Amino acid sequence: MRLFDTHAHLDDRKYDRDRRQMLKRAQDKGIQYIVNVGYDLPSSQRSTGLAEEYPFIYAAVGIHPHDASEADDEVFSKLKNLVQHPKVVAVGEMGLDYFRDLSPRDVQQQVFRRQLGLAKELGKPVIIHDRDAHGDIMKILKEEQASKIGGILHCFSGSWEMAQECLEMGFYISIAGPVTFHNARKLAEIAAKVPLNRLLIETDAPYLTPEPFRGQRNESAHVYYVAEKIAGLRKISLADLAEATTRNGLEVFGIKDHF
Ligand code: NI
Repeated sequence: MRLFDTHAHLDDRKYDRDRRQMLKRAQDKGIQYIVNVGYDLPSSQRSTGLAEEYPFIYAAVGIHPHDASEADDEVFSKLKNLVQHPKVVAVGEMGLDYFRDLSPRDVQQQVFRRQLGLAKELGKPVIIHDRDAHGDIMKILKEEQASKIGGILHCFSGSWEMAQECLEMGFYISIAGPVTFHNARKLAEIAAKVPLNRLLIETDAPYLTPEPFRGQRNESAHVYYVAEKIAGLRKISLADLAEATTRNGLEVFGIKDHF
């Protein structure tokens, strides 16, 4: 069985003491691919660094809405160079976060649109962060014709109606640890209904730790528990869910299977 953690932040300082062992645990648990995701310029640079160091890690580079205020022309010009790195497979994470509003909303929207433009220009899929901004996310994805590049709604938290709209635009839906939580009824329904060929799994480590480790630091090995939970919800075997989501990950990121 092989698994693909399509969204993690393993460059985080929380792994500085034991990163190598943590990655070994992931490989021992069957995780064969990881995409490490940047959220600002330094973390995007660290992501490509990890991807250079570890053959099974790929990188996404981008500016999170929290950090949108800092994305000036110089940041964008450096980001554009990074996107062309051979192991960079997506632009992101990008999007809108109206829950914490750490950058003004008009700036978040502008930086989101600009990254969609960059991804279109360079032909890469996008990784979308959406928190309490479902309406504006869909509006901007449509206005910027994001269906031309496609990508991923990461840590999906919208309704089934929104999921359907994203699927129609050619996007993949990625489910993270919260699907294992006892009160995750709506998300569980969506995880069971998304067509199997458009479903992805992720950890968002070090955040969103799934049961039975909720409350502790998350790590890529734990994507196993997300897979196990969704397989149960869909009444298919863990092996089938793991293989399908791994193939989908390879497909959306355009990674040539090296096994
Ligand atoms: Ni993330």
